[in-house]
Amino acid sequence: VDDMGADLERVLLTEEQLGARLDEIAAQIDADYAGREILVVGVLKGAVMVMADLARRISTPLAMDWMAVSSYGSGTKSSGVVRILKDLDADLTGKHVLIVEDIIDSGLTLSWLLANLRSRGPASVEIATMLRKPEAAKVEVDVRYVGFDIPNEFVVGYGLDYAEKYRNLPFVGTLAPHVYSS
Ligand code: PRP
Ligand code: MN
Ligand code: MG
Repeated sequence: VDDMGADLERVLLTEEQLGARLDEIAAQIDADYAGREILVVGVLKGAVMVMADLARRISTPLAMDWMAVSSYGSGTKSSGVVRILKDLDADLTGKHVLIVEDIIDSGLTLSWLLANLRSRGPASVEIATMLRKPEAAKVEVDVRYVGFDIPNEFVVGYGLDYAEKYRNLPFVGTLAPHVYSS
């Protein structure tokens, strides 16, 4: 982590802040899903960290499954047209599905995913995201559990990448402009 210091501008959320917020969200999830079982769906790759840290705080019985999606077309990600790279193994019929994401930026990925999973006959579909950028929203997505609303800055760490790097940082930081504007 040491030689990443120059690439980072500042720490936005510490490991302690992230963990404390996940304690609260997990307690809320346990209260909301009392007496049920959950199918937790992580969206690869960004959601890996929050999936691991949230799931181990939940006491409600749960199964974990994973999906990988990618935006079609031009260089700008989040075109809204999404392609499934890896589909779920689980049949969603009658299941209580909880989608877990690292960040909601434009909302386009999740709004597509929500419609896709809802069409598979689940009993319910809810969303938990560690981060959300309200200023970047292009579509409104109804999100049940939000860790933190953050400013519209380039953030990395805790699963979030820039060119596949920095996902392993245990905290969320802003990337120095020299890293991505060259
Ligand atoms: C990022 C992030 C969310 C999505 C949010 O994933 O992890 O899944 O973009 O963007 P949106 O709200 O504008 O649609 P990315 O496509 O970079 O893949 P990754 O998780 O493998 O990094
Ligand atoms: Mn992602
Ligand atoms: Mg990414």
